Amino acid sequence: MSIVLITGGAGFIGSHVASALLARGHEVRVLDSLIEQVHGGSRPARLAPEADFIAGDIRDADTVARALRGVDKVVHLAAEVGVGQSMYAIERYVSVNELGTAVLFQQLIERPVQRVVTASSMSIYGEGLYRRSDGGLAESVERIEARPGAWDPRDADGAALVPVATPEWKRPALASVYALGKYAQERLTLTVCGAYGMEGVALRLFNVYGPGQALSNPYTGVLAIFASRLLNRRPPLVFEDGAQRRDFVHVSDVAEAFAVALEHEKAPGQVFNIGSGEHRTISEVGTLLAQAMGSPLMPEITGKTRSGDIRHCFADISRAERELGFRPRQDFAAGLAELAEWVARQEAVDRADEARRELEARGLVA
Ligand code: UD1
Repeated sequence: MSIVLITGGAGFIGSHVASALLARGHEVRVLDSLIEQVHGGSRPARLAPEADFIAGDIRDADTVARALRGVDKVVHLAAEVGVGQSMYAIERYVSVNELGTAVLFQQLIERPVQRVVTASSMSIYGEGLYRRSDGGLAESVERIEARPGAWDPRDADGAALVPVATPEWKRPALASVYALGKYAQERLTLTVCGAYGMEGVALRLFNVYGPGQALSNPYTGVLAIFASRLLNRRPPLVFEDGAQRRDFVHVSDVAEAFAVALEHEKAPGQVFNIGSGEHRTISEVGTLLAQAMGSPLMPEITGKTRSGDIRHCFADISRAERELGFRPRQDFAAGLAELAEWVARQEAVDRADEARRELEARGLVA
């Protein structure tokens, strides 16, 4: 069994990873800055008490050096996570996500570990993979203009494209400051680990949901935003026409993926999509969540676009299945029921309006 450092381990995903690793008999140390937007500044109750905890910033070399003492393996999750916010808080996002990862690896040169597993993101793909009407695949699709009646991307001749599951080989299309940072983290992990005899792995997470999601942080995933609106008796606001598709993967499956990636002999040097392998529209998940929460409110289709949004992206998880034996277990309906049950016990401050105003003031929602 190993001693594992989880950077950002007090967060939504990190605290689940901590529990999964403790359950497997590892010792866990968490380094987390407990940023106000996510945690309100204190150690969250859901972080397992057995986890050793260090409060500190990933950009602080001395803190990172202290956190690495005696550690065998690292799970790197510390990051700023709002895609929309990354488009105006550029300095903060580049500082935490790129520089923070650089500080971690600088320290790892002096204190090498066996393996580093870094959280990358589906955001690096931009639009997912599409199929053209002639059967060929289109991997560099971009929406020139997203507007009512023309939400779906089309090929150069204006012909319709069908979205298909996105595999790891799809060329990255870095459409936000956040995506740029995640790609940098992923490449730093593989490059530096390779150069210094450590094993590097990156997991490209799709849309992660589950209990512990930061309900009052309006910059994280759509399910948390919808849940906090419903909790405050307001309808979920759906951008575009609601037919955009995503892959929602339960946080327990993601935690399992990290645990396996830390141990599996085939993981080193590779990137893996971690999703559920299923896809759903945003309208559908809004409706299902309202039902699960026992709310009569229906999602409201706004017809507005959010700058930087892609239309469809969902995971091809066959590499993780084949190489790591990864099998997402959580059924979506059961996952939503559990989320609803957890949400009912929370008090979420619905800050989505505030976030939307920030984006609108900068012309990032139209
Ligand atoms: C983005 C990132 C992803 C990251 C995730 C959570 C991209 C391509 N992906 O995913 O890496 O993990 O954020 O930070 O940048 N929506 C609404 N109403 C809302 C909020 C969102 O309709 O109030 C819609 C969005 O327009 C989008 C979908 O829901 O079509 C999903 O949005 P979101 O949960 O923010 O995640 P992604 O943009 O898929």
